[in-house]
Amino acid sequence: MIDLETYTPEGDKENSDFFNEFLPRVYERRAMSGLPQIVGRMAGAVIQVEHGDAINYLAELAVMGPYRLVEARLSETHRVFVLRSRPEFPRLLVLEPLTPSYEDEITRWNTLYPLSSRKPNARYVGEIYHADSIKAVHEALEPQNVRFVEPGDTLNAFYSGGHLTFTFLSDFTYNRVGYVDIDLDDTEALEIGEVITISAHDLEKLETAHAMQEEHGIADLILGLDHMATRILSGDREDALLEYLTMVPYYFWGAYNIHEMNSSTNVTRHPDIDDEKTSPARVFTANNTPSYLNSFDNLPMPTEDFVRNFGRRMHHMAVAVIDGHVAEEKNVDYVVRQLAGMGTKFLADVVGECKDDPNLKQIFSKSSAYSGLITEYIERCHHYEGFFTRDNVAALTAAAGADERYEHGHVFD
Ligand SMILES: [Fe+2]
Repeated sequence: MIDLETYTPEGDKENSDFFNEFLPRVYERRAMSGLPQIVGRMAGAVIQVEHGDAINYLAELAVMGPYRLVEARLSETHRVFVLRSRPEFPRLLVLEPLTPSYEDEITRWNTLYPLSSRKPNARYVGEIYHADSIKAVHEALEPQNVRFVEPGDTLNAFYSGGHLTFTFLSDFTYNRVGYVDIDLDDTEALEIGEVITISAHDLEKLETAHAMQEEHGIADLILGLDHMATRILSGDREDALLEYLTMVPYYFWGAYNIHEMNSSTNVTRHPDIDDEKTSPARVFTANNTPSYLNSFDNLPMPTEDFVRNFGRRMHHMAVAVIDGHVAEEKNVDYVVRQLAGMGTKFLADVVGECKDDPNLKQIFSKSSAYSGLITEYIERCHHYEGFFTRDNVAALTAAAGADERYEHGHVFD
């Protein structure tokens, strides 16, 4: 268990006096409100895709990662797909609107940005945390001006159920935080819709994807989620961190300044777990100086370019690759080679070294045509104790930037 009073954050990114004043105060207020006792580990993550994209997205996930469909449900507005990796790791919930014309605040925010307007309903929505009682969560956080979705606030009743509650989309991250006070596998009690059967044709698609992953020998090498990273505007970095730490029992692990990319990577983690994958780290990435000042130093600035093109949003989800070798090849290199053979596209090459010393190897896939999310593969070699290396983050940031440029006239591809 990390002692928040004595912990010194990692990394070289300097925080303002504002942040240094309010971080301990946020921890203190959180402890007083009882939140760490009421809210536990991450129970799930929610992603919405366009109408008609869900099965293709689930098939893509079955090739690229550990998540498999458990059940599908039908609400008044959506098909809701419940996916699982290992029982102790968070679930994935994929929401698919029932009509192409569906619109809620996700649609409206996506429509504001030149590249996210192509798929206006596709967005990572947020994490769901285990809670003793959602009423207790409301009572702890509402006095701190955290706003929760009430029935009728939005078209999708998923966000305001009897056992499932979500905050409004954060103005700093455009993500929600959800809380569930029963087992997320108890989908009947969750009241997220009636069970539906998937057509034989669609099931075959998912089974083919699953079989492909098995045949290529990577199914047992890919574990759960290691971390997820949201990109935000430069001026919102400290607010986004402090707001998140207000709402969940995580701590500020530390931040790296990636000066050459005009960017910083800021990490929050659960303070009391043995295995990161039982409650993945939440990362926030932001420019050091905003885009309109960037020409003074004229550095690459992929982070804020991304935000200006897609809006604040989740950028990538990282999947942990089990440490080891297949023959002479490191597992992550093997996984990437096999995935590439199945058609997965990657941005640049694997970064980082894993010789005899503890270290990290990482790579980004291209973003999904369905969710817009990049999948990162990360192998922590020889019991690497740190969480990130500065050099890897710099190389990954550069690789993603090269793929996310906005070209005039390409909005409606
Ligand atoms: Fe990452």
